[in-house]
Amino acid sequence: MVDLYKNKISVIGLGVVGLTTAVGFALKGHRVIGIDIDPEKVMKIAQGMSPIYEKGLGEALKKSRIHAAIDFEQILDSDISFLCCGTPSNGDGSIDLRYMKGATEQLAEVLKKKKTPHLVVVRSTVVPGTTEDRIIPYFKDLAEVGICVNPEFLREGTALEDFMSPSRIVIGESEPRWGDILLDLYDDFVCPVLRTNLRTAEMIKYASNAFLATKLSFINEIGNISKKLGIDVYEVATAMGYDKRIGSEFLRAGIGFGGSCFPKDVAALVARAEETGYIPKILKEVLQLNREQPLRMLELLRKHIPELRGKTIGLLGLAFKPDTDDVRESRAIPIIEALVKEGAKVRAYDPWAMPNFQKLFPQIEYTSAQEVLASDATLIVTEWDEFNCLDYSNSIVIDGRRVDSAQKARICEGVCWEGNNNVGKEKPADLMASLDRIRI
Ligand SMILES: NC(=O)c1ccc[n+]([C@@H]2O[C@H](COP(=O)([O-])OP(=O)(O)OC[C@H]3O[C@@H](n4cnc5c(N)ncnc54)[C@H](O)[C@@H]3O)[C@@H](O)[C@H]2O)c1
Repeated sequence: MVDLYKNKISVIGLGVVGLTTAVGFALKGHRVIGIDIDPEKVMKIAQGMSPIYEKGLGEALKKSRIHAAIDFEQILDSDISFLCCGTPSNGDGSIDLRYMKGATEQLAEVLKKKKTPHLVVVRSTVVPGTTEDRIIPYFKDLAEVGICVNPEFLREGTALEDFMSPSRIVIGESEPRWGDILLDLYDDFVCPVLRTNLRTAEMIKYASNAFLATKLSFINEIGNISKKLGIDVYEVATAMGYDKRIGSEFLRAGIGFGGSCFPKDVAALVARAEETGYIPKILKEVLQLNREQPLRMLELLRKHIPELRGKTIGLLGLAFKPDTDDVRESRAIPIIEALVKEGAKVRAYDPWAMPNFQKLFPQIEYTSAQEVLASDATLIVTEWDEFNCLDYSNSIVIDGRRVDSAQKARICEGVCWEGNNNVGKEKPADLMASLDRIRI
């Protein structure tokens, strides 16, 4: 029987990155086997159900017919394996490679039985030097195994779209012949392709994330200064963004960045730099400012409700950003911790992330957006589109994400901008008009 598939690929680790990679390559006509150690996850995927909420991924998974398993032996029926396991932080911020180690060990064991060449691709984010020092040694006795580093740049919320239309493809290669295989695999992707050595490819991923995180902490700092001076940072940012050298993205001031990447990747790069004896001052401050930023909401809240004990405080948004149910490093976490510590009763609403958040904070109340708005005060933590359609008119709102319609609240205080914090006065028509002007 003729094999209609272009290549046989295995993907190890079926989280956001692995599942997207698996589904994306399957849609491109490759045969894909997905491997994960989590049997529940594997069972869901095998039934065509996405274990995560990602726009378009569920429907694409149904179409893609990927094969999911927990059995590493299945990898023998593939020629290219993508390692997509998680790389979380240790307590000191350094990279925790335990999942990569576990998967690599199992992969190397299986590949001992393979008679034909096999390419191992590190797609997880690993600090520079990891592939050479911690991955390659497992394969050193296997002559026909090649190694590449191929970082993923997808954004959660648009993961599949980003996989299918990447901004660039980086191929770090142990030898050009192995990079050539990866180049062939990406043949029908339209974007710049850069070929580098392994550790450069690893650094490109960290430098990219560290830059974006820095841009966010930078605009938050400008926002903090602007607020003190009665300046609207969104007007400032809009004008800055027209400069091509700056660019308009990642200039939304607010309560900082969360998610599974920026905080841990910047921390891991700091730790890796310190191992070499270099202290990365900017990056350390980026993280420090990001730790403090969500707590500014509480300072602003206390201006309106000085004693939080016994008061009901509502949160709109629990996901670390809109269009995902991922709550890793969500800014809602330190905010709720601080509210609970001060004796406030917390209620919260998020369109998708409540089940995940409930695992972290079973003690708070999960309810509707309307109930949240009936609290003594409401904090906007994630800028879901639907929050722009709510009626804020009877609420006190501390807005961490610049949701336009929150300006119509009884009182609205922006974390890095003024809002309409003018009890008893008319709504600031000038501010509303200027917000309309800067919407581009
Ligand atoms: N999430 C993102 O937006 C994103 C974007 C770009 C890069 N990355 C990087 O990609 C990597 C994966 O991220 P993620 O968010 O998909 O992680 P994740 O934690 O969502 O998923 C990792 C998966 O690996 C599985 N796993 C762990 N050990 C395993 C083993 N030994 N064998 C098989 N499976 C195993 C886990 O069960 C889990 O399903 C990380 O290095 C991350 O930094 C993430």
